[in-house]
This record gives sequence, C-alpha cells and structure tokens, in this order.
Amino acid sequence: MNAKEINDKLPRHVGIIMDGNGRWAARRGAARTNGHTEGLKAARRVVERASLRGIHYLTLFVFSTENWKRAASEVDFIMSLVKRHLMRELDFYRENHIRIRHTGDTSGLAPDIIAEIDEARRGTKGFDGLQVILALNYGGRNEIIRAARRFLRQTAAASSDEAAAALTEEELSRCLDNPDVPDPDLIIRTAGEFRVSNFLLWEAAYAEYFITDKFWPDFSIDDFDAALAFYAARERRFGANSESGAAVQ
Ligand code: IPE
Ligand code: IPE
Ligand code: MG
Repeated sequence: MNAKEINDKLPRHVGIIMDGNGRWAARRGAARTNGHTEGLKAARRVVERASLRGIHYLTLFVFSTENWKRAASEVDFIMSLVKRHLMRELDFYRENHIRIRHTGDTSGLAPDIIAEIDEARRGTKGFDGLQVILALNYGGRNEIIRAARRFLRQTAAASSDEAAAALTEEELSRCLDNPDVPDPDLIIRTAGEFRVSNFLLWEAAYAEYFITDKFWPDFSIDDFDAALAFYAARERRFGANSESGAAVQ
C-alpha cells in the first residue's frame, strides 16, 4: 500500500492504550516512574505525528479507574506528571492548534488536576486541529454507568416504563462524556497484551485493533505510521459483507 492509499484511508479517531512503561523501566533496572517519564515523551511525539498526519481525534489512555490499585507513590507520580505536562505544554498545543479534552470520572480526581485539565481545555477550546482526549480516571463501564445516570436525570419520562422505552443506543451515546466525538476507528495497544482493559467499551464496538509488542516508551512515529498502514488495509464490514456493499467502508 502506497502513501497516498494510506492517506486516503486515515482513521478519523485513534485510541491508544499506552502500556508497558513499567516493563520498559524494569528491563533497564530503573524505577517504574522512569518508564512513565519516558512514556510521556512518547505521547508527545505521537500527538505531534497524529497532528501532522491530519488525524482528527486521538484518545490517550493515561490512567484507568482500576489504576488506583497501584502503590500511592506511583499514582501520585503519574498525576503530577500529567499536571506538569499540561502546565508546560500549553504553548505546544497552541502552536499546533491542538484542542485538549478529557474523558473519565472527574469526581475521583484531585481538584488541582481538574483545575489544570479545565485550564488546558479552556485555553485550547477554539482550535480546529487535532483533538487530544485525555482518558484520565477513565473506565468504559464507569462511563456507561455515568451516561445512563445522565440519561435518567434528563429524561422527562413520566414512568420507569416510559424511560426504559426512551433509552436507545443514540440516546445513551448522547449522554457519553464527549458525545460529539465519533467512535474510534483504530485502537493501538502497546506491550503485547491482547485485552481491552476497560477502554472505550461502548465506543470501540467496531474499532480495528493494532497490537504491538513494543513497550510504550519505545513507540516511535514509524510505529504510529505502521498502525495507520495496517488500518488502511483493513476491510471494515460493520456486520455486512462485501456483496451487500452499502455498509462496507
Ligand atoms: C502504562 O504502563 C501506564 C499506565 C497504566 C498508567 P504500565 O505502568 O501499565 O506498565 P506495565 O504494564 O507495568 O509494563
Ligand atoms: C491499561 O493498562 C491502562 C492504561 C494504559 C492507562 P494497564 O496496565 O492498567 O492494564 P492491565 O492491568 O494490564 O489490564
Ligand atoms: Mg500495564
């Protein structure tokens, strides 16, 4: 597949499960935190690459609702890394017209992190380039539950039967964290694990998966391009088949 063919079939939305920071560090006899610091550098270069390639949406899995099970020192390190990054890199986002957004449960986040996310969100709101969605304290099940609760609060149904009948896929989608963001077309997972780990459970119903053995800190812009090439070669059927045509992309 040549460069033009790949460019003609770019995913609109890419999600990344950035895994393997700890193993990357362990292999060097270094602390896990070093892996996270290097992982942040990988995230920055992939954001830059995605922006250059004309991807519209990039969701980065930064911290899951399950990651609180880790040592408090590691959790604190990751949170402060995110905060510092947002404070320092705002100019980089502005220069590249990148819009920062968030998905996840803000109720479990510390006020200083929420403040930093809000500031980044506000400061980049008007940009029409790449939208980077930070999945921080994110869990797919948690998002679906919060969406269902939003739906129930908003619905004007007179009875629970009426509310049940009004709950459609479209209505639930409208109650997700970022309803205007299209479903991810491509999910990348590093560090060789073939599992979804509670990432975008609802949205990724028909995503293509690209899994590489590389640890996230080693993930290069060439690896990102390889994922795009992989995606361009996929035939997406959405349950139809090649004879039925219409639904095949
Ligand atoms: C991904 O790397 C970063 C987060 C989940 C926050 P890990 O920290 O999970 O690295 P491994 O899986 O232990 O190698
Ligand atoms: C998934 O990685 C979460 C993030 C990348 C933020 P984990 O390392 O938490 O996933 P598991 O525990 O191996 O499933
Ligand atoms: Mg991991």
